Amino acid sequence: MIHNLKINSEEEYYSTYKRSIENPELFWDEIAENFLWQKKWTKTLEWDFTIPKVKWFIGGKLNITENCLDRYLNSQGDKTAIIWEPNNPNEFSKHITYKELHKLVCRFANVLKNNNIKKRDRVCIYMPMIPELAIAMLACARIGAIHSIVFAGFSSKAIANRINDSSCKMLITTNEMYRGTKTIPLKEICDEALKDCPSIEKVIVFKRTNAITIMDQNRDVFWHKEIEKVNDINTAEIMDAEDELFILYTSGSTGKPKGMVHTTGGYMVGITYTFLNVFQVLQDDIYWCTADIGWITGHSYIIYGPLCAGATTVMFEGVPSYPDYGRFWQIVEKHKITHFYTAPTAIRTLEKQSLSFIETHDISSLKVLGSVGEPINEEAWQWYHNNIGKGNIPIVDTWWQTETGAIMISSLAGITKEKPTYTTLPMPGVQPVLMNDEGNVIEEKNAEGRLAIKFPWPSMARTIWGNHIRYKEVYFSTFNNKYFTGDGALRDENEYYRITGRVDDIVIVSGHNLGTAPIENAVNEHPKVVESAIVGFPHEIKGNALYGFVILYQSEDASSELKVEINKVISTDIGPIAKLDKIQFVEGLPKTRSGKIMRRILRKIACNEISNLGDISTLLNPEVIEAIKENSL
Ligand code: PRX
Repeated sequence: MIHNLKINSEEEYYSTYKRSIENPELFWDEIAENFLWQKKWTKTLEWDFTIPKVKWFIGGKLNITENCLDRYLNSQGDKTAIIWEPNNPNEFSKHITYKELHKLVCRFANVLKNNNIKKRDRVCIYMPMIPELAIAMLACARIGAIHSIVFAGFSSKAIANRINDSSCKMLITTNEMYRGTKTIPLKEICDEALKDCPSIEKVIVFKRTNAITIMDQNRDVFWHKEIEKVNDINTAEIMDAEDELFILYTSGSTGKPKGMVHTTGGYMVGITYTFLNVFQVLQDDIYWCTADIGWITGHSYIIYGPLCAGATTVMFEGVPSYPDYGRFWQIVEKHKITHFYTAPTAIRTLEKQSLSFIETHDISSLKVLGSVGEPINEEAWQWYHNNIGKGNIPIVDTWWQTETGAIMISSLAGITKEKPTYTTLPMPGVQPVLMNDEGNVIEEKNAEGRLAIKFPWPSMARTIWGNHIRYKEVYFSTFNNKYFTGDGALRDENEYYRITGRVDDIVIVSGHNLGTAPIENAVNEHPKVVESAIVGFPHEIKGNALYGFVILYQSEDASSELKVEINKVISTDIGPIAKLDKIQFVEGLPKTRSGKIMRRILRKIACNEISNLGDISTLLNPEVIEAIKENSL
């Protein structure tokens, strides 16, 4: 493992932080020295947020998989790299060593080459949480192909949109996947998507189940047959530090999803440094992040971060409720998990279950707990702390984003202090600022504002695939010369940060980042719908849920069947995660004189804060409000 990058005391955190701000380039230079480079960089940083342009470790050459795998072959080749726990607890789990993973990745890299994939080609991966997903992504990185992983809960339309946006040449999937008691026909979903994806030349299908799979003879090949055609010797492609490593789509508050582009060198340095420091993982620890690799958390903190650091990382195929709500704790006991990193929505779900699900398992191996994806409420924090942490192990609440690539604000486990519901302190090298409504930096310690970052960090996304103008507009146009996060935050007297939530039209539902505009577009596609507006409202388990206000062509069509149909349209267009919890049919929507829907008012109604709707004098049609209020759900 990499050992020498860790901060060991609170005092050292503050001195390191200070150094990282005074001379960021020297600071990151020293960290980057700890990796395997084929050629050292000649310049550490070039940046200009007005273009915007950010480049790190310029001229440096490397391959991230040599850092994840090759560098450990001699020192710890027989150490387990990945522990895989299947959906069904009766199926065997797998332990894959660094040596074995290296061979598997090299072999599959040769399969990709054999199927005409070259450096910079885009490969879409739509797979469940099985080792082959990790192998496929690392094999892409090995040959310099750009992977675009699509969470295996998205619909065929959502896959097609993402494949077409970045013209993927290949799709890698499985015939079926398991999820709790369900078996889901992934290949069929892909076939539907591919009716509309002219750029796809090949589909590689891994057989996860024994079901018969219909293959297109001109396009589809089986994983198990392809790996027989190649050997496991592969020399990693030499990549420039700024060559693209992957694209990962995240919701936008308007329009289609944004393909965030992450590059190689800076991403590797940023995620590995934060992984080591936030979690403080040691050589024999067993680290488990319960996220899906289809999200950024899985990219950075299941695969690339832990493997670059030389740790043992756990991949779990199933869900927390199968075969019962004790599954997480059964896995902790079985694999002697030391580090457990999950989302508040999972914690709130488990909090509702009987404590006997925990008590029947020995979870005393746990040393560090983590939270990610949305603000963790006090009650969930306390439950996690008392029942899982037994009142005496650290919880790191890590704030970051798909766009930031790596953890930005968090405590360091056992090193810096924690404060429930606060993500606390910025990572070394991260320079957060709070902005007021006038767009100025708030200098006072104790304050609330919109969260921005004023200096580049190595793992930040460099652009939106094919749309640099949108990248500039979304992130660099709200505040002069700063990256805008889209989040609001509080800062206390110790300069600890607390994230209060999104301040734009993105709603975090069960930790999933959902733009309301694309969902509205889906709802509006229904032939009976004129227009809709969707807002978030607080939900006990999911954190937030979605409330849709929908205008129909004919009000007599309003029915509970229509609500089901509307949700079906959303499921097909985006995926079941974007379904609406509440649908209210309305006669009109509150609009400004320029025709913009006043979501602020709808948000208040959805949150049941109807006594104080604020200033409605600028509305074009204030009369619609009474009816909406009266019939609110
Ligand atoms: O609103 C913040 C919330 O999740 C958003 C980023 O979502 P996504 O790109 O999907 O990445 C999630 C995993 C990193 C942020 O803008 N968020 C993430 N972590 C936290 C959080 N809100 C509060 N506390 C957190 N720890």
